[in-house]
Amino acid sequence: MQKMWEGRFSENSSELLESFNASIDFDKALYKQDIFGSIAHANMLGTTGILTKEQSEAIANGLRSVLKEIEDGKFEFKTQDEDIHMSVEKRLSDIIGKELGGKLHTARSRNDQVALDFRLFVRQETINISKLVLNLIKTLKDIALTSKDILMPGFTHLQHAQPVSLSFHMLAYAFMFKRDYERLLSSYERNDLSPLGSCALAGTPHQIDRQIVANELGFKGVTQNAMDSVSDRDFALEILFNISLIFMHTSRLCEELILWSSSEFRYITISDKFSTGSSIMPQKKNPDVAELIRGKTGRVYGNLIGLLTVMKSLPLAYNKDMQEDKEGVFDSVETAKTSLVILEQMLKTTKFNKDFMLKACKTGHLSATDLADYLVKEHKIPFREAHFITGRCVKLAEDNGKDISELNLDELKSIDERIENRALEVLKLLNSKEARKSIGGTSNQSVDIQLDLIEEFIKANS
Ligand code: ARG
Repeated sequence: MQKMWEGRFSENSSELLESFNASIDFDKALYKQDIFGSIAHANMLGTTGILTKEQSEAIANGLRSVLKEIEDGKFEFKTQDEDIHMSVEKRLSDIIGKELGGKLHTARSRNDQVALDFRLFVRQETINISKLVLNLIKTLKDIALTSKDILMPGFTHLQHAQPVSLSFHMLAYAFMFKRDYERLLSSYERNDLSPLGSCALAGTPHQIDRQIVANELGFKGVTQNAMDSVSDRDFALEILFNISLIFMHTSRLCEELILWSSSEFRYITISDKFSTGSSIMPQKKNPDVAELIRGKTGRVYGNLIGLLTVMKSLPLAYNKDMQEDKEGVFDSVETAKTSLVILEQMLKTTKFNKDFMLKACKTGHLSATDLADYLVKEHKIPFREAHFITGRCVKLAEDNGKDISELNLDELKSIDERIENRALEVLKLLNSKEARKSIGGTSNQSVDIQLDLIEEFIKANS
């Protein structure tokens, strides 16, 4: 079997090497990027006069035939061809002849070619994933719109802390995913540059025009240092990191959904469509989707750490180690796309049980901080002392098997004479929530502002 690079070799390669060295099994996923990149390159060679117009057109047409063969399932991917770049070029030469086919690789190297293909892939998937993140934000916003009056405990240390609205809790996630969306977009902007024409590592003596290729492929410009362009994979690491952050956020959301669907909480009922049963316990209904997304966070982090480690300490410029850059990215992208879709669908069909949420608010003295704030505001008592007095009230409530909001005025006065009627109002759960009118607070007034911001964001990006 002839190799494209066999000129300086006198022995055939071992079969072991052939399969070990090949990346075709996975980089065939880049066939479209490879072919469109090659067509743009051929067109540029024609426009600049490096090839004649007829030659470049014949090459471009040949490449389109290869594309059709692949899409019709008629193309044979062979290990001997090593990678997608050589497979396409080899087939092109079969179709249009070696003489002409051999001219395509003028002023190009596989090093800038693979950097181009991979950038094109990452660029497209960045947009695809950002759309799914936006859908998730929309769904969270829809839930938030109708749940401003649903009271639930806010937690710290997984202990009841202060009453919040479900709307407020959902918006917390909406803001996290908004930043994830913005991070994807800023990565897109940073990496929207064509590396083609960097060649092996040092540029080319041919009179190429890199901008023509960039324009044809919709890049906003070209990269500025050939060695950097073929050496770095930070664009791929950025998508891996962006996906990792998305999963860090979804894993927290999923963890809460898992907790909330348990019999201890019962805050939500996940629809049957997105639940599974047990092979032995007939009564079981399990939140497998949320658990799987939580679990997949591990592989997504693994892919990020994997590529960071591959790239660590690599001397410039291209090293074959870098062929290990693709599978993790393909896997994280696929995992993100399937997980985001199913999470959004699951959330849409989840029922929120406001009665259980409200009931939960009645344990844990959620409005205790409000009593302390009342003592500070209305009696000018230093916060530390107010904290202590309230602590005594909590103890009294505990001793009587009550929530602090259920103490009567006499009971409160037995702790501190200065406490007046108004304290009873302050201790009511709903009032506690509504009192938090600071920017970013949980009152309806503050939540309305947050909702507006999220709605504006969605509108601006739809
Ligand atoms: N299959 C290779 C990769 O994925 C393509 C680049 C090979 N370049 C080279 N000089 N061997 O990285």
